[in-house]
Amino acid sequence: MLFPASNVVFAAQGNLSLFKLDIHRPLSPNPLTNLFGGWEAVENASLTLAESANVLLLPGRACANGNVAPVQRPDWIEYTKLLRDAGQAAYKAAKTKNQDAMVDMSMVIADSCNACHRVCRRERL
Ligand code: HEC
Repeated sequence: MLFPASNVVFAAQGNLSLFKLDIHRPLSPNPLTNLFGGWEAVENASLTLAESANVLLLPGRACANGNVAPVQRPDWIEYTKLLRDAGQAAYKAAKTKNQDAMVDMSMVIADSCNACHRVCRRERL
């Protein structure tokens, strides 16, 4: 969920009109060029980031190394909150269709990813 959604939001730092609706493939798997593309895709991807915070808090999910995600650890919960807040802020910014705001939002999102990764990914939880 996180990698493709954040890439859609990051794309809005540039000129989104370069991603034209693919009229031959309106159901294209590229969120930026399908029927719900452009800024709508950026809004949707921002909401996906915000909602993925809830998924990261589901108990019993395992990381690639087999260890269960530490969903009750206070710092893990805090990192998911950063992600939720970043996604919600990006959603608001996407509604303004302001490219500069998306540059700022991309930093906020990347910071929220890194906050968790710095601690939890290196440990290979
Ligand atoms: C609450 C913690 C947390 C947050 C927030 C988080 N991640 Fe992660 N991420 C992890 C952990 C833990 C791993 C290692 C998981 C594993 O090895 O199974 C990981 C791994 C990844 C991977 C590598 C997947 C792979 O197959 O090796 C990608 C890509 C990734 N994260 C993207 C993101 C992006 C983009 C964001 C922000 C939008 C983000 N993550 C936010 C905890 C988090």
